[in-house]
Amino acid sequence: MEIQKNISLKPFNTFGIAINASEFSSISSFEDIKLLIPQLSQKPFLFLGGGSNVLFTKDFDGLVIQNQLKGIETLYEDENTAEISVKSGENWHDLVLWTLEKGFFGLENLSLIPGSVGAAPMQNIGAYGEEIKNWCTKVIALNLSTGELESFTNEACEFGYRESIFKRKLKNQYFIFEVYFKLDKKRAVNCNYGDIKKILEEKGIDTPTPKDVSNAVIEIRSSKLPNPSELGNAGSFFKNPVISTSLFNELHHSYPDMPHYPDTNGIKIPAGWLIEQSGFKGKIVGNTGSHAKQALVIVNYGNATGEEIFNYSQTIIEFVKNKYGIELEREVNII
Ligand code: EPU
Repeated sequence: MEIQKNISLKPFNTFGIAINASEFSSISSFEDIKLLIPQLSQKPFLFLGGGSNVLFTKDFDGLVIQNQLKGIETLYEDENTAEISVKSGENWHDLVLWTLEKGFFGLENLSLIPGSVGAAPMQNIGAYGEEIKNWCTKVIALNLSTGELESFTNEACEFGYRESIFKRKLKNQYFIFEVYFKLDKKRAVNCNYGDIKKILEEKGIDTPTPKDVSNAVIEIRSSKLPNPSELGNAGSFFKNPVISTSLFNELHHSYPDMPHYPDTNGIKIPAGWLIEQSGFKGKIVGNTGSHAKQALVIVNYGNATGEEIFNYSQTIIEFVKNKYGIELEREVNII
């Protein structure tokens, strides 16, 4: 394990922002992290998984640690379920494909989400009616002040919509080392989501297998979401806002077509709709803009700086706030 100086992070963030880290190191074993721990109290640090949910707005004056911890193990299997443990540096989509190959089901709706396994519980990744909180049983995380591994049950992770205890309360205090999942072997697939249903119908598949659902999700994502290796982006840039019922009633009166979903804390409105209705879908400003097929995604058309993208997102936030009285919150971590 060596520490390199002045390394470009362009290849390590899916937005493709060209900034430098003053120090950079890759870890591939528990011993590697243990060796780095004493340094973490002395300088800013950042653990980087797939770099798919960050926007760098300036050079990082500190130590960037690239997570290369690999390994997937089946811990237990009976005729109905299987329990697996996965090291946090594994690629998320590769894990989903591995589970499907093994006949372990539950993660198929989360196919093709970019990023690493360690980032998945951090923000409780979700798509097409599933979230990892439905399948994750335990997270093993390294306490960065004691150097000890600690176990967090599903409940202790405090999962919420794109939220967990690691993203908020315990931010920068733990490093996610390993994630446990309990998966089904006889699964009734979850294909209630409109787009999935439509694709399966078009293909004439009446009794879809988890692999069919995964393929449908891959098809939807590939058609709507830009591939970061072709066009820099970090998936949804904003969260879908949840608003009060009274604000919703007011807005619904003026905008009867506004899509909405019930939520435990009020009414959820698709941010993509608000942004599209505000005229930003497909808009290009300098080197950045909103994706033409999914307004929730901001893209880097080439040489955008993080600051340029941040400022563009601020313009969207202000416009939407003025028009609808709803304040959009960024899903992407700004660094
Ligand atoms: N919509 C528009 N215009 C757009 C985009 C969306 O009007 O440009 C409206 C449509 O009414 C559509 C609704 O928004 O019916 C929902 O759109 P979509 O199904 O594309 O999902 P989303 O709410 O925009 C969320 C997640 C995605 C996830 C999809 C599918 C968030 C912030 N985003 O997007 O997650 O893939 O649902 O489940 O919750 C990500 O987090 O990076 C991500 C891509």
